[in-house]
Amino acid sequence: MALKKRDWLFVALVAVVFGIFFAISGEEKTIRVPHDEIHAKFFEMVNREGKKETEKFCKECHNPQNLSLPEGHPPPFRCLFCHKFEER
Ligand code: HEC
Ligand code: HEC
Repeated sequence: MALKKRDWLFVALVAVVFGIFFAISGEEKTIRVPHDEIHAKFFEMVNREGKKETEKFCKECHNPQNLSLPEGHPPPFRCLFCHKFEER
């Protein structure tokens, strides 16, 4: 029995729905920048000045001498590219 056009549409729809589901679930799993006293000012700064300006300050604390990043951390050049701010 050959599939009818309507059946193919159904298959395509299911495929699209699953595709969206996987796209969403794979996204934004990276640990978020917490909304605490330390990081709150950066939340403001990102809105004001953008990510690139804000990121310069991360390394004042998150550096190997002070608070080292976990082993196997990806190259930490653009922190906010991966680490989103926690939703309020
Ligand atoms: C004044 C020092 C300081 C600066 C600057 C700073 N952090 Fe942090 N950060 C900390 C400390 C201390 C912790 C661990 C305690 C905590 O969770 O607040 C932390 C924790 C984190 C965590 C992990 C939270 C968790 O749940 O384990 C992330 C992600 C993070 N910082 C990202 C950033 C980013 C991105 C920036 C730059 C926008 C930044 N931090 C700037 C001190 C700092
Ligand atoms: C290429 C993406 C990427 C970039 C860029 C990046 N990180 Fe991460 N970071 C991760 C991943 C992945 C983890 C592992 C934890 C997880 O599953 O979220 C992590 C973990 C951390 C943790 C540890 C959280 C904990 O409690 O174990 C901190 C703190 C952190 N990153 C801070 C930073 C800072 C500060 C920068 C910029 C200097 C930065 N990261 C840049 C992807 C990134």
